Amino acid sequence: MNTLPLARRHLKLGWCLLLFFLTMGIALETMHGFKLGWYLDVSNETRRLMWRLAHAHGVLLALVHIAFALTIAHLGEVNGGWPRIGSLGLNLAGFLLPGGFLLGGIIVHEADPWLGILLVPLGALALFFGVAAVALRVLRER
Ligand code: HEM
Repeated sequence: MNTLPLARRHLKLGWCLLLFFLTMGIALETMHGFKLGWYLDVSNETRRLMWRLAHAHGVLLALVHIAFALTIAHLGEVNGGWPRIGSLGLNLAGFLLPGGFLLGGIIVHEADPWLGILLVPLGALALFFGVAAVALRVLRER
């Protein structure tokens, strides 16, 4: 298959996710600046943890999308369905992992995050299979 169209889609998604989640970093920084208790009070520690994790996983997964795009573009024409498995895994993980942390911090009950946090393990599984598909293929490269 020609991997260039898929690479282009992941480049666009990666840069958009990076923009979104680094903007989230600026929003977190702003809440620090204004010493917002809703984010910084000890009683809201879980919210802060969830949103810090959403920001960190979001920016880093955005970079993984860009790395995936560059990897498949570098390989050019390839055989097999592994680029589609990698792409599906990364697409799901890019939304479910940071999205789950983001949703988990919206409503915090005592130390428990909201049920949205359940998206996180699904995102982790998707990421595992996506990255495994790429890693196994890249290992076969000479
Ligand atoms: C590619 C860009 C970025 C990456 C890879 C990144 C990564 C991370 C990571 C890993 C953490 C967690 C650190 C820890 O818990 O010890 C973090 C936290 C944080 N980041 Fe970023 N970040 C990026 C961009 C930004 C930008 C542009 C801002 C805004 C100025 C920002 C603001 C923050 C803040 C305020 C925290 C702490 C949140 C808190 O604990 O309340 N980040 N970042």
